[in-house]
Amino acid sequence: MKIGIMGSGVVGQQLGVGFIRLGHEVKIGTRDTAKLNEWKKDAGEKGTAGTFSEAAKFGELIILATLWTGTEGAITLAGKENFSGKIVIDVTNPLDFSKGAPPKLKSAPGESGGETIQKLLPGAKVVKAFNTISAYIMCNPKREEGVPDLFIAGNDESAKMKVASFAEGWGWNSVVDMGDISKSYLLETFALFWIEYGFKYNNWTHAFKLLKK
Ligand SMILES: NC(=O)c1ccc[n+]([C@@H]2O[C@H](COP(=O)([O-])OP(=O)(O)OC[C@H]3O[C@@H](n4cnc5c(N)ncnc54)[C@H](OP(=O)(O)O)[C@@H]3O)[C@@H](O)[C@H]2O)c1
Repeated sequence: MKIGIMGSGVVGQQLGVGFIRLGHEVKIGTRDTAKLNEWKKDAGEKGTAGTFSEAAKFGELIILATLWTGTEGAITLAGKENFSGKIVIDVTNPLDFSKGAPPKLKSAPGESGGETIQKLLPGAKVVKAFNTISAYIMCNPKREEGVPDLFIAGNDESAKMKVASFAEGWGWNSVVDMGDISKSYLLETFALFWIEYGFKYNNWTHAFKLLKK
Protein backbone atom coordinates (compact mmCIF):
# COMPACT_ATOMS: atom_id res chain seq x y z
CA MET A 1 0.00 0.00 0.00
CA LYS A 2 1.11 3.61 -0.54
CA ILE A 3 1.31 5.61 2.69
CA GLY A 4 1.46 9.42 2.72
CA ILE A 5 2.74 10.97 5.92
CA MET A 6 2.15 14.64 6.76
CA GLY A 7 5.02 15.42 9.10
CA SER A 8 8.81 15.26 9.04
CA GLY A 9 9.26 15.05 12.83
CA VAL A 10 10.12 12.02 14.89
CA VAL A 11 6.57 10.62 14.61
CA GLY A 12 6.48 10.83 10.82
CA GLN A 13 9.96 9.34 10.58
CA GLN A 14 9.31 6.46 12.99
CA LEU A 15 5.94 5.55 11.45
CA GLY A 16 7.52 5.86 8.02
CA VAL A 17 10.19 3.29 8.79
CA GLY A 18 7.55 1.17 10.53
CA PHE A 19 5.32 1.04 7.44
CA ILE A 20 8.30 0.27 5.20
CA ARG A 21 9.16 -2.61 7.55
CA LEU A 22 5.65 -3.95 6.88
CA GLY A 23 6.36 -3.83 3.13
CA HIS A 24 4.60 -0.56 2.22
CA GLU A 25 5.82 2.46 0.26
CA VAL A 26 6.04 5.75 2.14
CA LYS A 27 6.24 9.39 1.09
CA ILE A 28 6.72 11.95 3.84
CA GLY A 29 5.36 15.44 3.20
CA THR A 30 7.17 18.52 4.47
CA ARG A 31 7.87 22.15 3.56
CA ASP A 32 11.60 21.31 3.51
CA THR A 33 12.61 17.90 2.13
CA ALA A 34 16.24 18.46 3.21
CA LYS A 35 15.07 17.60 6.75
CA LEU A 36 14.56 14.03 5.57
CA ASN A 37 17.97 13.36 3.97
CA GLU A 38 19.14 11.22 6.92
CA TRP A 39 15.76 9.47 7.18
CA LYS A 40 15.87 8.53 3.50
CA LYS A 41 19.19 6.72 4.09
CA ASP A 42 17.51 4.56 6.78
CA ALA A 43 14.29 4.15 4.82
CA GLY A 44 15.85 2.82 1.63
CA GLU A 45 14.24 2.86 -1.77
CA LYS A 46 10.67 2.52 -0.45
CA GLY A 47 10.94 5.85 1.42
CA THR A 48 10.70 9.20 -0.34
CA ALA A 49 10.06 12.82 0.61
CA GLY A 50 8.01 15.48 -1.10
CA THR A 51 5.70 18.41 -0.52
CA PHE A 52 2.62 17.99 1.65
CA SER A 53 0.59 17.92 -1.55
CA GLU A 54 2.76 15.26 -3.20
CA ALA A 55 2.59 13.05 -0.10
CA ALA A 56 -1.19 13.44 0.21
CA LYS A 57 -1.72 12.58 -3.46
CA PHE A 58 0.63 9.60 -3.12
CA GLY A 59 -1.01 8.15 -0.04
CA GLU A 60 -3.82 5.61 -0.31
CA LEU A 61 -3.76 6.00 3.47
CA ILE A 62 -2.60 9.25 5.10
CA ILE A 63 -1.05 9.93 8.48
CA LEU A 64 -1.29 13.31 10.15
CA ALA A 65 1.83 13.81 12.25
CA THR A 66 2.18 17.58 12.38
CA LEU A 67 2.57 20.07 15.18
CA TRP A 68 -1.01 20.86 16.19
CA THR A 69 -0.72 24.57 15.43
CA GLY A 70 0.57 23.74 11.93
CA THR A 71 -1.92 20.98 11.19
CA GLU A 72 -4.64 22.98 9.45
CA GLY A 73 -1.96 24.79 7.43
CA ALA A 74 -0.38 21.50 6.42
CA ILE A 75 -3.80 20.13 5.34
CA THR A 76 -4.41 23.26 3.28
CA LEU A 77 -1.00 22.90 1.61
CA ALA A 78 -1.75 19.19 1.01
CA GLY A 79 -5.13 19.96 -0.57
CA LYS A 80 -8.25 18.80 1.26
CA GLU A 81 -9.46 16.97 -1.83
CA ASN A 82 -6.48 14.61 -1.59
CA PHE A 83 -7.82 13.15 1.68
CA SER A 84 -11.26 12.32 0.38
CA GLY A 85 -12.35 8.70 0.76
CA LYS A 86 -9.07 7.75 2.48
CA ILE A 87 -8.24 6.48 5.95
CA VAL A 88 -6.48 9.30 7.84
CA ILE A 89 -4.62 8.29 11.00
CA ASP A 90 -4.55 11.32 13.28
CA VAL A 91 -1.55 11.11 15.64
CA THR A 92 -1.61 14.79 16.59
CA ASN A 93 -2.11 16.16 20.07
CA PRO A 94 -3.54 19.68 20.42
CA LEU A 95 -0.92 20.96 22.82
CA ASP A 96 -0.20 24.52 23.88
CA PHE A 97 3.43 25.16 24.87
CA SER A 98 2.98 28.95 25.06
CA LYS A 99 3.44 28.91 28.84
CA GLY A 100 6.26 26.37 28.72
CA ALA A 101 6.32 22.72 29.73
CA PRO A 102 4.42 20.68 30.57
CA PRO A 103 2.01 21.93 27.92
CA LYS A 104 -1.68 22.65 28.31
CA LEU A 105 -4.25 20.73 26.27
CA LYS A 106 -6.38 22.67 23.76
CA SER A 107 -8.96 19.88 23.55
CA ALA A 108 -12.53 20.02 24.82
CA PRO A 109 -15.54 17.70 24.55
CA GLY A 110 -16.98 18.19 21.06
CA GLU A 111 -13.88 20.20 20.05
CA SER A 112 -11.09 17.67 20.30
CA GLY A 113 -8.31 17.51 17.74
CA GLY A 114 -9.73 14.35 16.20
CA GLU A 115 -13.18 15.89 15.78
CA THR A 116 -11.66 19.08 14.38
CA ILE A 117 -9.76 17.04 11.77
CA GLN A 118 -12.87 15.01 10.90
CA LYS A 119 -14.84 18.27 10.40
CA LEU A 120 -12.03 19.71 8.24
CA LEU A 121 -11.95 16.51 6.17
CA PRO A 122 -15.58 15.30 6.05
CA GLY A 123 -14.84 12.88 3.19
CA ALA A 124 -12.02 11.12 5.07
CA LYS A 125 -12.22 8.25 7.55
CA VAL A 126 -10.32 9.72 10.49
CA VAL A 127 -8.93 7.33 13.09
CA LYS A 128 -7.27 8.78 16.17
CA ALA A 129 -4.41 6.45 17.08
CA PHE A 130 -0.83 6.29 18.38
CA ASN A 131 -1.20 9.66 20.14
CA THR A 132 -0.87 8.22 23.66
CA ILE A 133 2.66 6.83 23.33
CA SER A 134 6.18 7.86 22.37
CA ALA A 135 7.08 7.93 18.70
CA TYR A 136 9.79 5.37 19.42
CA ILE A 137 7.24 2.87 20.74
CA MET A 138 4.66 3.27 17.96
CA CYS A 139 6.19 0.57 15.76
CA ASN A 140 8.14 -1.21 18.55
CA PRO A 141 5.63 -1.70 21.37
CA LYS A 142 7.34 -4.55 23.21
CA ARG A 143 8.62 -3.25 26.57
CA GLU A 144 10.65 -5.14 29.17
CA GLU A 145 7.49 -5.21 31.30
CA GLY A 146 5.18 -6.41 28.52
CA VAL A 147 3.25 -5.05 25.55
CA PRO A 148 1.03 -2.04 26.31
CA ASP A 149 -2.43 -1.46 24.81
CA LEU A 150 -3.13 0.85 21.90
CA PHE A 151 -6.23 3.04 22.21
CA ILE A 152 -8.01 4.22 19.07
CA ALA A 153 -11.22 6.06 18.11
CA GLY A 154 -13.05 6.88 14.89
CA ASN A 155 -16.39 6.77 13.11
CA ASP A 156 -15.61 4.15 10.47
CA GLU A 157 -15.45 0.56 11.72
CA SER A 158 -13.51 -0.85 8.76
CA ALA A 159 -10.97 1.99 8.95
CA LYS A 160 -10.38 1.19 12.63
CA MET A 161 -9.94 -2.49 11.77
CA LYS A 162 -7.36 -1.57 9.14
CA VAL A 163 -5.43 0.59 11.61
CA ALA A 164 -5.58 -2.22 14.17
CA SER A 165 -4.16 -4.65 11.61
CA PHE A 166 -1.15 -2.37 10.98
CA ALA A 167 -0.64 -2.06 14.74
CA GLU A 168 -0.80 -5.84 15.14
CA GLY A 169 1.86 -6.11 12.43
CA TRP A 170 4.15 -4.09 14.71
CA GLY A 171 3.40 -6.27 17.72
CA TRP A 172 0.50 -4.51 19.44
CA ASN A 173 -1.48 -7.50 20.67
CA SER A 174 -4.34 -5.50 22.15
CA VAL A 175 -5.95 -2.58 20.32
CA VAL A 176 -8.75 -1.00 22.34
CA ASP A 177 -11.47 0.72 20.29
CA MET A 178 -12.83 3.52 22.49
CA GLY A 179 -15.67 4.42 20.12
CA ASP A 180 -16.46 7.14 17.60
CA ILE A 181 -14.34 10.20 16.82
CA SER A 182 -15.83 12.15 19.75
CA LYS A 183 -13.75 9.82 21.95
CA SER A 184 -10.66 11.57 20.61
CA TYR A 185 -11.17 13.89 23.56
CA LEU A 186 -10.49 10.97 25.90
CA LEU A 187 -7.42 9.90 23.93
CA GLU A 188 -6.05 13.46 23.92
CA THR A 189 -6.56 13.90 27.69
CA PHE A 190 -4.96 10.47 28.11
CA ALA A 191 -1.99 11.74 26.08
CA LEU A 192 -1.71 14.70 28.48
CA PHE A 193 -1.63 12.22 31.38
CA TRP A 194 1.23 10.44 29.57
CA ILE A 195 3.04 13.76 28.98
CA GLU A 196 2.62 14.99 32.60
CA TYR A 197 4.04 11.71 33.87
CA GLY A 198 6.97 12.08 31.47
CA PHE A 199 7.84 15.59 32.69
CA LYS A 200 7.38 14.73 36.38
CA TYR A 201 9.54 11.59 36.32
CA ASN A 202 11.72 12.42 33.30
CA ASN A 203 10.76 9.11 31.77
CA TRP A 204 9.59 8.83 28.17
CA THR A 205 9.40 5.08 27.61
CA HIS A 206 6.24 4.51 29.60
CA ALA A 207 2.99 3.19 28.14
CA PHE A 208 -0.34 1.93 29.44
CA LYS A 209 -1.86 -1.50 29.76
CA LEU A 210 -5.53 -2.06 30.59
CA LEU A 211 -5.89 -4.90 33.09
CA LYS A 212 -9.41 -6.28 33.03
CA LYS A 213 -9.26 -9.11 35.52
N1 LIG B 1 6.88 13.08 19.60
C1 LIG B 1 6.14 12.10 20.10
O1 LIG B 1 6.66 11.14 20.69
C2 LIG B 1 4.64 12.16 19.91
C3 LIG B 1 3.87 11.13 20.45
C4 LIG B 1 2.48 11.14 20.23
C5 LIG B 1 1.90 12.17 19.50
N2 LIG B 1 2.69 13.19 19.03
C6 LIG B 1 2.06 14.25 18.23
O2 LIG B 1 2.40 13.98 16.86
C7 LIG B 1 2.56 15.21 16.14
C8 LIG B 1 3.96 15.23 15.50
O3 LIG B 1 4.93 15.27 16.52
P1 LIG B 1 6.51 15.30 16.19
O4 LIG B 1 7.17 15.33 17.51
O5 LIG B 1 6.85 14.24 15.22
O6 LIG B 1 6.76 16.63 15.37
P2 LIG B 1 6.34 18.17 15.57
O7 LIG B 1 7.58 18.92 15.79
O8 LIG B 1 5.25 18.30 16.57
O9 LIG B 1 5.75 18.50 14.11
C9 LIG B 1 6.59 18.54 13.01
C10 LIG B 1 5.80 18.70 11.75
O10 LIG B 1 4.85 19.76 11.87
C11 LIG B 1 4.92 20.55 10.69
N3 LIG B 1 4.57 21.95 10.94
C12 LIG B 1 4.91 22.72 12.01
N4 LIG B 1 4.42 23.97 11.86
C13 LIG B 1 3.78 23.98 10.65
C14 LIG B 1 3.09 24.98 9.91
N5 LIG B 1 2.94 26.23 10.39
N6 LIG B 1 2.54 24.64 8.72
C15 LIG B 1 2.69 23.38 8.22
N7 LIG B 1 3.36 22.39 8.89
C16 LIG B 1 3.88 22.69 10.07
C17 LIG B 1 6.38 20.46 10.28
O11 LIG B 1 6.45 20.76 8.91
P3 LIG B 1 7.86 20.87 8.14
O12 LIG B 1 8.28 19.45 7.90
O13 LIG B 1 7.49 21.57 6.91
O14 LIG B 1 8.78 21.62 9.04
C18 LIG B 1 6.71 19.02 10.59
O15 LIG B 1 6.40 18.22 9.48
C19 LIG B 1 2.32 16.32 17.15
O16 LIG B 1 0.98 16.77 17.03
C20 LIG B 1 2.57 15.66 18.49
O17 LIG B 1 1.85 16.27 19.56
C21 LIG B 1 4.03 13.19 19.22
